[in-house]
Amino acid sequence: MKTLFVVFGTRPEAIKMCPLVLELKKQTCFKTIVCTTGQHKEMLRPILELFNVVPDYDLDIMKQDQTLFDISSSTTEKLRPLIDKIQPDAIIVHGDTTTAFATTLVGYYLRIPVIHVEAGLRTNDSFSPYPEEFNRCAIDKISSICFAPTNKAYANLIQEGKDPESCYNVGNTAIDALKYTSNGNIDKNIEDKIKGKRLITLTAHRRESFDGGLESIFKSIVEITQKYDDVVVVYPMHKNPNVRKHAYDILTNNDRIILCEPLDVLSFHSLMKKSYLTLTDSGGIQEEAPSLGCPVVVLRDKTERMEAIEAGTVVLAGTDTNRIISIVSNILDNNEVHDKMKNAINPYGDGMTSNKITNIIKNYFAEA
Ligand code: UD1
Ligand code: UDP
Repeated sequence: MKTLFVVFGTRPEAIKMCPLVLELKKQTCFKTIVCTTGQHKEMLRPILELFNVVPDYDLDIMKQDQTLFDISSSTTEKLRPLIDKIQPDAIIVHGDTTTAFATTLVGYYLRIPVIHVEAGLRTNDSFSPYPEEFNRCAIDKISSICFAPTNKAYANLIQEGKDPESCYNVGNTAIDALKYTSNGNIDKNIEDKIKGKRLITLTAHRRESFDGGLESIFKSIVEITQKYDDVVVVYPMHKNPNVRKHAYDILTNNDRIILCEPLDVLSFHSLMKKSYLTLTDSGGIQEEAPSLGCPVVVLRDKTERMEAIEAGTVVLAGTDTNRIISIVSNILDNNEVHDKMKNAINPYGDGMTSNKITNIIKNYFAEA
């Protein structure tokens, strides 16, 4: 029997890997071992509970205000003896986090095949997003199988010289995950405060925005609430202290800006469904937005997810205060612009991605 070793560590990886873990665990021809690095702690736990996934190993690496060196060094140090002992037939990683990159490096050093889920996304700028663009390119370079979520991502891999026999366009497991998150309710406290208003959901956490970008984003939020008295903004703040200090400096003392803890994914998706608009620098939210029927303004200069922009649900705004205000005003002022964004079609697959990936891995081992 073949052994698969699945590793993830952050909130978005968990949301998009759990549906695949559940599918892999149904198979009798594999043993599937799940390991979390614990790069995230509080933000990971509710997702594991929702999907009822119990990791076999938890490396428990998270430190307050951790650096990229902290994450990569503790992951490689703790994973090496574990993988060396288990000797899996393949390691499965997701996306572009430093957990995924450091795990891939361990796989490469130990000569164990790596399988990359959500491969081929590119901005072609190693510092935007930072360090994710470098991470995903390096992971793809080393991986034995790349699962691209779209035609565009698949084409990027082929253009970079990957063997077409090792790359597959399978859709994104983010859409599979939505089947598990559709029954949530908005927190009662938040619901009372947003009654009769147009709701804007905000999330922001990117490392490349720590140097001025976050302040500029938060100033635009204050000005938008001053310009539109029927707008209320809910911001489930990322746990990163670098994010929170700017949020507390700029966004407090405004009764139409609600700061709260990160929401569990069921509540977050119901919040998005109720939102007139979401402002975000998140990657995963750009993928979910078309399926949740919520227009999205992306608070970054570049995105590796052009598909939802082309589908019409997402607009790229960057972090400049005036540009954000102008783009948001255009949506708030024009119903037809808003409705067109709301009704675009999801470009990320049919929700059967985990099943497709599982079948391809089965064939890979059958032929090996
Ligand atoms: C990480 C990923 C990023 C991904 C994001 C999703 C890297 C380098 N970054 O960034 O690609 O988009 O996750 O959210 O891999 N913290 C807690 N509790 C938690 C989680 C975080 O307290 O459950 C705090 C800790 O102080 C931690 C800090 O947030 O040190 C930063 O976490 P980290 O994983 O390094 O960075 P993210 O910005 O979350
Ligand atoms: N999300 C959540 N609760 C929140 C904010 C976001 O469950 O309070 C979910 C969101 O629906 C998406 C994922 O977390 O599935 C995105 O995570 P994040 O923005 O942290 O990471 P990124 O996608 O940018 O890597």
